[in-house]
Amino acid sequence: MVSAHSPMAVFLHWGFVGVFVYALTKQIDELEELEDASLLQNEMMFATLFLTLLFSRFVYMRSRGSTALPSDTPRLNMLMARAVHLGMYVSLAMIAVTGLVIGVLYWSGFKDGAGISVVLIAHELFVQLSYLLIFLHVSAALYHRRKRDGIWSAMVPFFLKEGSRDSFRN
Ligand code: HEM
Ligand code: HEM
Repeated sequence: MVSAHSPMAVFLHWGFVGVFVYALTKQIDELEELEDASLLQNEMMFATLFLTLLFSRFVYMRSRGSTALPSDTPRLNMLMARAVHLGMYVSLAMIAVTGLVIGVLYWSGFKDGAGISVVLIAHELFVQLSYLLIFLHVSAALYHRRKRDGIWSAMVPFFLKEGSRDSFRN
């Protein structure tokens, strides 16, 4: 038996997808761009907001039951879903945390050298890890869409639900 996520959970899920896409579109191309103090300040404020939204969403989803998978789901599938969901939270949070560390180091005058280089590599690795996990997550969501088991419909807006005349065909 699959019960749908609450309207608030659906809003937070898709709202956050929008925030993440926005974050990617406004990203920094070169470290030297941080010379611009107002850009550095905006980046720091955005990363703090991003972390706050992510954490609030995590707490809300924990309180509501973070998956619609029924309790008789095979243990391995349940573990994989939980690992990918948790992995997305951790990798997205670490992008923002490493970004904040880059900002603090740069602002404090550590503009080159091993310290900032290591944090920059970590920042980029967490970006790549979150792409990988999001790819796995979306593949799993599409798999459930094909299975028509209700998991897809539990999280998508009404016009994309299984059986909706407007949703895309298999
Ligand atoms: C930035 C991209 C995305 C992130 C970070 C993300 C993250 C998550 C997380 C963490 C959950 C677990 C519930 C929660 O804590 O909110 C979840 C559930 C879900 N997501 Fe995503 N998601 C993304 C994009 C997508 C996309 C593009 C789709 C569909 C094509 C999708 C479909 C679903 C579905 C169906 C569930 C419910 C799964 C369940 O109940 O077990 N997600 N998502
Ligand atoms: C939620 C917040 C953030 C997101 C989603 C994000 C995302 C990204 C992405 C996608 C890249 C490109 C990675 C690549 O090319 O592999 C990047 C690079 C970078 N980001 Fe962030 N970032 C965030 C916060 C920050 C903050 C707060 C700072 C510093 C104030 C920062 C500084 C940088 C720098 C210096 C680079 C590398 C530019 C280069 O390749 O030389 N980021 N970030």
